[in-house]
Amino acid sequence: MVAFASVAQAGGGRSNLRDYAQKRNFLIGTCVDMRAFYKDAAYTAILAREFNALVAENAFKQKAVWTGPHTYNFKDTDALVDFAQKHKMKIRGHCLVWHHEVPQWLKEGHYSGKEVNDLLKDYITAFVSRYKGKVDQWDVVNEAIDDKTFGLRLDSFWFQKLGPEYLSLAFQWAHKADPKAKLYYNEYSAEDMGKKSETVYGLLADLMKNKIPVSGVGWQCHILEQGWRTSEDMTKNAKRLGKLGLEIMVTELDVSIKLPTTKEKLLEQAQCYRDMMDFCLKTPQVKGLLMWGFTDAHSWIPSFQPGKGDALIFDKDYQPKPAYQAMLEELAKGKNKK
Ligand code: XIL
Repeated sequence: MVAFASVAQAGGGRSNLRDYAQKRNFLIGTCVDMRAFYKDAAYTAILAREFNALVAENAFKQKAVWTGPHTYNFKDTDALVDFAQKHKMKIRGHCLVWHHEVPQWLKEGHYSGKEVNDLLKDYITAFVSRYKGKVDQWDVVNEAIDDKTFGLRLDSFWFQKLGPEYLSLAFQWAHKADPKAKLYYNEYSAEDMGKKSETVYGLLADLMKNKIPVSGVGWQCHILEQGWRTSEDMTKNAKRLGKLGLEIMVTELDVSIKLPTTKEKLLEQAQCYRDMMDFCLKTPQVKGLLMWGFTDAHSWIPSFQPGKGDALIFDKDYQPKPAYQAMLEELAKGKNKK
């Protein structure tokens, strides 16, 4: 057991998530809000101290990077990659293709399928090559599956312009640009053995059968349910994906609280984080856990889930919450990863 006092003094160089994760050969990380990144030294100090992996909350998305046909803005992506390198952290590139983030100029540009194909190829090639050997993992495709039909999203710009081939093409282009980078398919609500994870499994099995270079599946894990715990189904799903030759990352964990927050709710939240960390450490296919932020001062939850909040492991004043302590304890006692 690590005393809570020592955690509270983590700034003084005592226990921290990163050191334990490093020993376990495990990735522990968070997404980064670039506004806080640029102007808040306390924010970046915690990033470097607590985590060995980073992902941008929005800065790697198409709407941020892809300014026009064959023109790109790499200011924020450069800044984050430089920071990660300076602090010897891994970086995930999130995400190359997502129906939700198609730039306006592209959507409204009346481009033909062939033109969109060439534009996307150039975008992926330029982006992935720029960070060859620096960005360790890419979410190549994000959220391609429809929640109602459990098939591919037919209303996705990418599907409409390129057909179902867009997934294999994107993975192949990314692989060509950096053959050593790990390439992921990232999805939400596909962790257990339900209909959606069945579709993800089928999709990935197909890609693997066709020798498309996919390395893993990202499980977003935005937990909205009070009392949520990991399940046997998650282990089963991890195993079947593992059998395809795939690894898994928890990519966007947060555990929302129905406001107002109470001490009991914080303890219950800590149990979720503890359980998830325990699951990740004991499941061989899972290589790391990234949260969708680390401080309640910067989280997407209050604006996307009205009435909910306080979903992360540090409070708004950057003080560690019981969830932080729970993760630290699990990391301290967990087994090393291969
Ligand atoms: C969210 C960001 O947190 C918001 O700031 C943005 O407005 C919308 O996107 N799944 C994902 C992430 O893959 O990229 C999303 O991030 C959260 C859900």
